Amino acid sequence: MQRVSIQKFMERNKKNTILVTGGAGYIGSHTIIELLETTSFDIVSIDNYSNSNEGTYDRIKQITGKDVKHYNIDLCNYEETVKVFEIETGVIGIIHFAAFKSVSESVENPQKYYHNNINSLLNVLECCLKFEIPNFIFSSSCSVYGNITELPVKESTPFNKAESPYAYTKQVGEEIIKDYCKAYTQLNTISLRYFNPVGAHISGLNGELPINKPSNLVPVITQTAIGKIKQMTVYGSDYKTRDGSCIRDYIHVTDIAIAHIKALNYLLANNQKSNCSIFNLGSGNGVSVFEAIKSFEKISGIKPNYILGNRRAGDVEAIYSQTDLSKKELNWEAKITLDEMMETAWKWENNLKKQ
Ligand code: WQD
Repeated sequence: MQRVSIQKFMERNKKNTILVTGGAGYIGSHTIIELLETTSFDIVSIDNYSNSNEGTYDRIKQITGKDVKHYNIDLCNYEETVKVFEIETGVIGIIHFAAFKSVSESVENPQKYYHNNINSLLNVLECCLKFEIPNFIFSSSCSVYGNITELPVKESTPFNKAESPYAYTKQVGEEIIKDYCKAYTQLNTISLRYFNPVGAHISGLNGELPINKPSNLVPVITQTAIGKIKQMTVYGSDYKTRDGSCIRDYIHVTDIAIAHIKALNYLLANNQKSNCSIFNLGSGNGVSVFEAIKSFEKISGIKPNYILGNRRAGDVEAIYSQTDLSKKELNWEAKITLDEMMETAWKWENNLKKQ
């Protein structure tokens, strides 16, 4: 079907809704902002605020001027989840963000991660089949690769052992989706492997909102710089990398959000080779912890107070992406620079302080 007739098909069949799970979360809310600002889809969000808060919808309205229809239900509760799909009969695609995502927390509390991340995925996939919703985008992660020696990683790079329960829930998630796509060919799915999403909306009005003490590097840097955290720790300075600290592929959350619009259009155009596609979402640049701190210092003029500590359980030494496939197939590439990532993160942290 040509794209223009897809629009007509959706209007005629009143199928014009994109359901976003985890829509009050960090990446989910930034994706909803892009959906509201650049597409004509109706948006519905499901989030139980286990790692977010309802105020996110107010911030989305402040930025876009639009309300987001939302449900506060636990996706691990199948009956509750089905009820939403019984009401929202116009859903043509699902973007499934809802999952816990801290590598370090998953090492300390694996039960929380296996229960939530796997059961919520199974329930949403069940609803795709039950309510005949073919288009499904899964929020996966570069952590599926494990500790990799040959870098940059390609989508075809075989998985090594997952270094954390979080990473393993994403490996298992991708395998579940692959098996479903083989058996239920009506499904049409994309798994997006995010590298390290960081930064905040350009307006400074939305960003990462860690519920408790953050575990991710960039919010730790900005909270240390603003004084919420007295002193941060660099976890490991004896890795076999150019400066001894871990290497990651940081990518702005808005670049990630835009990739989801591209992925949605790719699914709706319905001309991909397989009903189970996988794409890396990274900048392709490896950046060390010390280099990330330096970038922050450059844009803020503040040197965060840090000490050198031991390595953190679950961390991989280095990972960054090869980005050819998402560029070629999705016509997408990261555009926002590391300094701009830090700038938006710092602007958001300062706005939070004013609230
Ligand atoms: C990055 C580096 C830490 C905090 C994240 C997400 C995960 C997935 C992959 C999307 C590591 C170091 C951190 C601190 C530090 N993304 N660090 N001091 O572990 O790569 O995982 O990206 O799905 O969801 O969690 O990110 O920001 O926690 O750590 O030295 O106080 O910064 O050791 O080397 P990570 P991170």
